Amino acid sequence: MKTKLSWILFIMLCGCSGPHTAHTAQPVNVTSLGGNTPVTQAAPLDSEAQYPKRGAAIARNYAEQPPLIPHKADYPISLQRNSCMNCHGWDKAKRMKATPVAASHVLDDKGTLKGQNYFCTQCHVPQAQNKPPRVENSFTSQ
Ligand code: HEC
Ligand code: HEC
Repeated sequence: MKTKLSWILFIMLCGCSGPHTAHTAQPVNVTSLGGNTPVTQAAPLDSEAQYPKRGAAIARNYAEQPPLIPHKADYPISLQRNSCMNCHGWDKAKRMKATPVAASHVLDDKGTLKGQNYFCTQCHVPQAQNKPPRVENSFTSQ
C-alpha cells in the first residue's frame, strides 16, 4: 500500500514540474587565489611577512599587553626545549641582543622560567607588515 501511494505521488510530482526551459551553459568566470597560474605550477607569493629590522620592538598599545613578536615565531617549543629561550632566556638575552623574558615570567634571580610562561606563543603573537595585507584591519587602540 505504502509503495503504491508513493508511486502515485511520484507520478503526480513529475507531471506538475512545469515546462522545462532549455538553457545553454554560460561560462563561469571564477578567479582562484592563484590568479592565472596554471594549477600545475606554484603561484608566486603575493604577500610575504615583512618583519621590522632585527632589534626593533613594536610599540605597545596598552599597559600589561604581552608585547608583539617583531620576528617570525615558528621557533619550536616542545616539552624538551623552548627555542625562544635561546635568545630571550636571562643567560642568553644580552649576547643575542634580545629583551630578557619579563621578571613576571621567572621564579628566581637566575631567570628560571615559570611553568605558566613556558608556551610563549600562547600570549605573544607575531606582527608583520604584509603587502598587500592578508586581512583588512581597522583596529585602533583609541
Ligand atoms: C634568534 C634569536 C631569537 C629567537 C630564537 C627568538 N627571538 Fe624574540 N626577539 C629577538 C630579538 C633580537 C628581538 C628584538 C629586540 C627586543 O625587542 O627584544 C626580539 C623581540 C621579541 C619580542 C618583543 C619584546 C618587546 O619588548 O617588545 C617578543 C615578545 C619576542 N621576541 C618573543 C619571542 C618568542 C615568543 C620566541 C619564540 C617563538 C622568540 N621571541 C624567539 C630574538 C629572538
Ligand atoms: C601567560 C601569558 C604569557 C606567556 C605564556 C609568556 N608571556 Fe611574555 N609577557 C606577557 C605579558 C603580559 C608581558 C608584559 C607584562 C610583563 O612584563 O609582565 C610579557 C612581557 C614579555 C617580554 C618583555 C619584557 C620586558 O622587559 O619588556 C618578553 C621579551 C617576553 N614577554 C617574552 C616571552 C617569552 C620568550 C615567553 C616564553 C618563554 C613568554 N614571554 C611567555 C605574557 C606572557
